[in-house]
Parts: sequence; structure tokens; C-alpha cells
Amino acid sequence: MARYSQEIIEDVRHANDIVEVVSGYVRLANKAGRMFGLCPFHRENTPSFSVRPDRQMYHCFGCGASGNVISFVMQIENFAFPDAVRFLAERVSYALPEPGDAEASARSQARKERMFELHKAAARYFFDTLQTPQGAAAGEYLDKRGVSASVRRRFGLGFALWQPEGLLEHLKVQGFSPEDALETGIVMPSKRGGGYSCRFGNRLIFPIIDVRGRVVGFGGRTLGDGEPKYLNSQESAVFNKSRNLYGLNLARKAKSREYILVEGYMDVISLSQAGFENSVAALGTAFNAEHAKVLKGYAESVIVAFDSDEAGERAVLKAAPLLAAEGMRVRVLRLRGAKDPDEFIKTYGAHVLADAASKAVPYIIFRIDTLRRQFDITDIEGKIGFLREASAVLAQVDSATEREVYVDAIAKISGIERSAVAKEVGVLESRLGQAPVRRTPLRYAPRRKNSDKGAENARKNLIYLAANFAQAAAQIAKFVSPQEMGDPDYALLLTTVLECHSAGRDIVPAEIVSRFDELETQRKAADVFASSLDISEPHHIERYLNDYVRIIKLHNIEEALKKPSDDQSSAENLQRLLESKRNLDKLYITI
Ligand code: CTP
Ligand code: MN
Repeated sequence: MARYSQEIIEDVRHANDIVEVVSGYVRLANKAGRMFGLCPFHRENTPSFSVRPDRQMYHCFGCGASGNVISFVMQIENFAFPDAVRFLAERVSYALPEPGDAEASARSQARKERMFELHKAAARYFFDTLQTPQGAAAGEYLDKRGVSASVRRRFGLGFALWQPEGLLEHLKVQGFSPEDALETGIVMPSKRGGGYSCRFGNRLIFPIIDVRGRVVGFGGRTLGDGEPKYLNSQESAVFNKSRNLYGLNLARKAKSREYILVEGYMDVISLSQAGFENSVAALGTAFNAEHAKVLKGYAESVIVAFDSDEAGERAVLKAAPLLAAEGMRVRVLRLRGAKDPDEFIKTYGAHVLADAASKAVPYIIFRIDTLRRQFDITDIEGKIGFLREASAVLAQVDSATEREVYVDAIAKISGIERSAVAKEVGVLESRLGQAPVRRTPLRYAPRRKNSDKGAENARKNLIYLAANFAQAAAQIAKFVSPQEMGDPDYALLLTTVLECHSAGRDIVPAEIVSRFDELETQRKAADVFASSLDISEPHHIERYLNDYVRIIKLHNIEEALKKPSDDQSSAENLQRLLESKRNLDKLYITI
């Protein structure tokens, strides 16, 4: 994902005072230089949420939420990092540069703003038309499909008349000319010479709203069986079909990290009406890798619930790997007895859907199940073919434990003996050379053990010491390498702090926090700087430094000793580790 430069991020951060931004959401009271309020991120009756204007950081003593103004907006608005930066830039009318020269980009930005405004005005007009007698047929159509009044409002559904005169008049009042409307493609020159016609004439209107709540285009459905069933806006400067997901503007507010991915507008709408607020759909184009990247900013896991026909099944086989490749957990919900989620809810009700969703199967299982149907496994060749393909699928799973579970599943699904399946998987693994290659980092990495806590604490405090004491930093640079920090985030934090010292730059925690894109890492970084380590006595610092370095190094040695290593080098390795352990006893760093 393209990232704004750190200078720009800093500009935006400086322009947005954290107290002002937080005050838009939380009532803050001043207590000795810190502002306190009720934490917006967990339920509480006494304020434990604090904001420090001097540091431009927030921290909750109750739930541990912490970070800078960008983290706050990410957390409260549920924005991904770049969207949070854009949100804050807009808040203070800071013109974020786009590639190309500044003047041209300012012009194109201004044009885009006008396009958003025009689309919004048109959406308003379509919405109002739906409530008039001229929109009665569309209203009845929605009645027939069971769309409630509040859901019509939630999605801004509307109706477009054949004649665009009313629309053009409405736009004119808002300062837009027919030429402006032509440019968006909402109206076209009339075929019968002179005047205009509406692209969406006599269609039910679904405004397409981007993640920041701006109308960027429209989908229009016929009220009958006309063709095409749906007509969508063309792509434009403000509408990129691969970057927008229908419903994401609403889904992100629901804050659940599990999303339902569906095929159609009506599926999103029905799901929303039935209380499933986290559903989104790709529109006017198949779900692609770019959609997956966008969704990854919001979802940890996705239930794919596409249409039940064969095309839907093929679409699942395309979409699911794209989601998995982004590190999301993917499950597949195959609907039985209905063509799509919309019809399913109408036929069986929301409870049955919720139940089915809870039983959605992991993508790998789904994949194996489709394979089994491709082969005739009553026949010996079919059986072998199936086993080969299924083991190739398993090779994509990087956890051995998980693979074991799937071996069981394959045996169960196919009725082939477990030992035969395990053997085939084993053959494949050795052919690939050892364990299968890990393709994508898994989000659901195993949880940390309790015994790691001490080491983690030592790493945090060591970075804190490095940040606050130049002499400590100099020694840490000599004695500890970033790799020894045992975690890429802490390694990067330490490197950053040490670099600031050697370049003679100030260490600004709020700035360092926004070098990280993920909220969780931002919290980790903020935590380091919020350490409560008592550093008032200079001689403590040396002691702390030695303690933490020792804890970290010892932990690393012990971890290495636990690891099974191959036979030839293991004796040597063991020697080396024990040697470093002895050396550690002699190590004392003075500052
Ligand atoms: N679609 C489209 N153009 C078409 C047909 C479909 O853009 N001519 C897109 C729409 O986003 C639509 C989705 O593909 O919502 C799924 O198509 P389909 O299953 O036919 O639509 P449904 O949402 O089921 O529509 P409905 O329930 O209104 O029949
Ligand atoms: Mn459908």
C-alpha cells in the first residue's frame, strides 16, 4: 500500500491537536495537565482515559488503548491507516499531495470535491423522488422485496425518472450546470436530438458510497425484467470499481472484525436489515486482489457467502485465496435452498442464517470438498487423483497441527483411510523439501506464553531507556542488536530510537508511533514510551540497563536451547550457546 511520507504524516498530525480531536468524541476534564474522560473504547463509570496535550498521546488505564491522534481516529472511526490520515487532513483542510505537480493536483482535487458534491446532490434528488407519487412503482417494488423504510434511508435508496429535467433543475440550484452532470455520466445527450436523458431512467437507485461516506457513483436496477438488470456508473476520477466495496461505509462502523462478503447490492441490504451489519459486496466487477487489500484494512476474518449457483461456487474459488493471501481467515458459507443470502433470509429468516454462518467451513475444507466432487473416488485412479490434489491444497497450510486436522477432514470427507491420506501428504511434503513454504504471514499467530512476559517487559523498558538517556543508548547500540529484540516491531523501534540519537534528532514518541500502520503496533510503541519505570535516580539507570540486557539475552539463549536442531551441528551449537550463557554472567555494562 502506498504510504504518505513521514513528513506529510507529521504535518497532518501537528495540524490536528489531539485534545481537539478527542473532544469531538469524549468529554474531557483537566486534571493537573492531563485531560481525563470516560474511555470510548470500553465501558466504564469512572474516567480512566487520559490525553496528554504535551505529548499529543492518549492512554487508557482501564483497557490499555493508547497511541497518537492518528491511532485515535483509526480506533474510533475504524479507519485503516491511510484513511485516518486522509480524514485528519480533510479535517484541517490540509491538501494531501498526489503524485504529479502540486498545482495540477490541487486543481484535480478541487474537481473531485465538486464531483462528490454533485453526486451527493443527485443522490438526494433520487431519494426524494422515491417518496413522491412518481416514485410509487419503485416504492411498491421495495415493499414487495421487504425493504423497510429505515433501511431505505440507511442506504439512501432512490428512484430516477426518465426525464432528467427535475434533476438538472435541482443540480442547477446547487450550482451545477448540465455539462457538469454530463461529465459524471448521470445524464447523456438525448438520442432524439436536443436535451438530455438520464442514464438510470426508470431504475431503482443504489448510491455507491465510499468508505469515507462520499457518494461516488450509482447502481440502478430495473423494476421488472429489463436488461441489463443492473446498470452502474462508469469508473471516474472519484469511482474506482476495484477500490470500493458496497456497504463498507456502514460495515466499518459496526466494528466487528468479521465480515460477510456477498455478491449483490440486495444481499448487503437484506443482511443489514436482518442485523448483519458487516456485509460488503464488490460491485459491477468480480472480487479482485485490490478489493482484498482494501478489506484487509478492516477485516480479520471473512465469511464468503456467494450465490448458490455454479457461477457462485467458481467465484468463491477465486475470491477466497485472494483473501487468504492477505492474511485474513476465510470461511465459506454455501447456501442451500436459496439462490443468494437475500433470498435465504426471506425464506428461512435471520436466525437460520446466523446458524449457518456459525457453521461456515474453513476455505481449505471447502476447497477439498469441491475437489472430491470432481473425482470419482470409488475408482482407484479417481482416488489417487483426489489425494494428490488434496495434498497439494494442504501444502498451502503452514501449521503442521492445522495440517493434521485437515488430514482428518480429508479422510472423513472422502472415506479414504486416514493413514493413506497422511502418507500421500507426507510424500508431497518431502517432495517439496521439508515443510511447505509459508506463503503469507498468518494473522492468527499462536499466543505468547506467560514466561515470555518478562522478556517482553525487558525489551520495552530497554527501548524506553534508550529513548531517554543518550549514554544508555550508546551502550545499548554496542551490546544489543535489533535482532535480539525478538520481535520485528521492537527491533524497528529500537533502531529508530538509536538513529534519532546518532542523528542528533529529538525523540518524539507521537511521531514514532505513526511510523507504524497497524493499530496494534502503534499501541505497542505508545506503551513503550508510557513506561512507568522510575528513572529519577541516575544510578538506577545503569542497574536497569544491565538487568534488561541480561534478561533479554538469557531469554534468547534459552529459547535457542529449546529448539530442536539437526544432528550434525547440534553439539557445536549447544557448546556455543552454553558458552554465551557463561559470558553473560561476566557481562557488566557501565555508563
Ligand atoms: N451486476 C451488475 N450488472 C448486471 C448484473 C449484476 O453490475 N447486469 C452486479 C450487481 O452488483 C449485482 C451483483 O452483480 O448486485 C449480483 O448479481 P445478481 O445476483 O444478478 O443480483 P442480485 O443482487 O441477486 O439482484 P436481485 O436480487 O435484485 O435480482
Ligand atoms: Mn444474487
